[in-house]
Amino acid sequence: MIVIGGGVIGLTAAWRLAERGASVVVLERGRSGSGTSHVAAGMLAPVAEADPQEEQLLRLGIDGARDYPQFIAELRERAGLDPGYLRCGTLMVARDRDEAESLEREHHVRQRLDLQVSRLRPTQARALEPSLAPTLRGALELPDDHAVDPRTLTSALAEAVRHDGGRVREGAEVQALEIDRDAVQGVRLASGERLGGEAVVVAAGVWSRGLAGIPDEVQVPLRPVKGQILRLVDPSGPGLLTRVLRMRPTYVVPRGDGRYVLGATMEERGYDTTTTAGATFELLRDAMELLPGLSELVLDELSAGLRPGTPDNAPVIGPGLTEGLFWATGHYRHGILLASKTAELIAGAVLGGQSVPDVVSPLRFARELSLSKLEADAG
Ligand code: FAD
Ligand code: GLY
Repeated sequence: MIVIGGGVIGLTAAWRLAERGASVVVLERGRSGSGTSHVAAGMLAPVAEADPQEEQLLRLGIDGARDYPQFIAELRERAGLDPGYLRCGTLMVARDRDEAESLEREHHVRQRLDLQVSRLRPTQARALEPSLAPTLRGALELPDDHAVDPRTLTSALAEAVRHDGGRVREGAEVQALEIDRDAVQGVRLASGERLGGEAVVVAAGVWSRGLAGIPDEVQVPLRPVKGQILRLVDPSGPGLLTRVLRMRPTYVVPRGDGRYVLGATMEERGYDTTTTAGATFELLRDAMELLPGLSELVLDELSAGLRPGTPDNAPVIGPGLTEGLFWATGHYRHGILLASKTAELIAGAVLGGQSVPDVVSPLRFARELSLSKLEADAG
């Protein structure tokens, strides 16, 4: 069984397949965990990022967050490494009157969806997080939105794959899938090596789309959504912030040891991953307005990653129209949150022929693409 891509999704899927006794190899062109997963903040934020228009996706995210403690416990046991999970909770905060009104609307939406959320007065929020600026206008507490460090998570996942008998091959770039008579036969690497396999899981993040050998009409539509993000360190140790802080579109994520992640932009600029002075300025300006202590931190890293976005923002998980070809991509802003859920669905589909929920099925695009091709062919 072949998994293309050693990001959080490919590694988690490979681990769950190996755990159930499958012979699995992960093919990663660079180092495992070095793609978008390396850049991600690691929020497990189904409630903070809830969109009432995407309720099925929201419920999937809530399931994913609920299963995380068990996932982490199993991973820690299998990998012998700490995956960096922090049960910290989240505060959504408002800086001015407009934002306070918008927060009020956000509160109602979440209440209507029966999500865990409570309204805090500024004094209550500052009692929880004393570094918040006195200008704070209001806050919502989301006690179940936590965080994980995606870098330690992917290291632990690679170890878990190996522990359970799978292989992670780094520097192994897949050049093309080999498909014959609508069935997968294996893959060809850039080195020229061929690997046979009756099941191939495509988990190459936003690069899943460009893989050669997959016919156009069964490809899934993905677009890169760039996110610039900063990593900061407090030389005096932890304490500035203990919860994730969200002030749309910006957020600050504590790692619990004096390290913080400040993100992120949302930009549609193709595959560009440069970092810019303007984005850095805006992220710092927005965050420092409510967390002035950030100005004392050491700037450790600027980076940018590409979120794999689909037209409906939901991931693409499970079998498509080609026999033996399984998709595990398109996780957009929630790949870290949905990794375990995705792996469970992939293992069920690959090994047990189980179906996946319609909201994530690749067939929703295959149908659209076939229809548009038929229309184009008809002239
Ligand atoms: P990737 O991590 O990109 O892995 C794909 C891998 O495939 C790469 O390692 C790549 O090298 C490899 N590959 C590509 N082509 C080939 C090939 N031909 N052959 C072999 N290997 C190949 N999500 C959350 O849940 N919470 C967050 O807080 C969060 N924050 C984010 C912040 C930012 C700034 C960004 C950009 C994203 C964030 N995300 C977050 C989203 C999350 O990072 C992604 O959804 C997730 O990392 C996607 O994982 P993946 O394994 O599909 O892709
Ligand atoms: N989920 C956070 C981000 O995509 O920036």
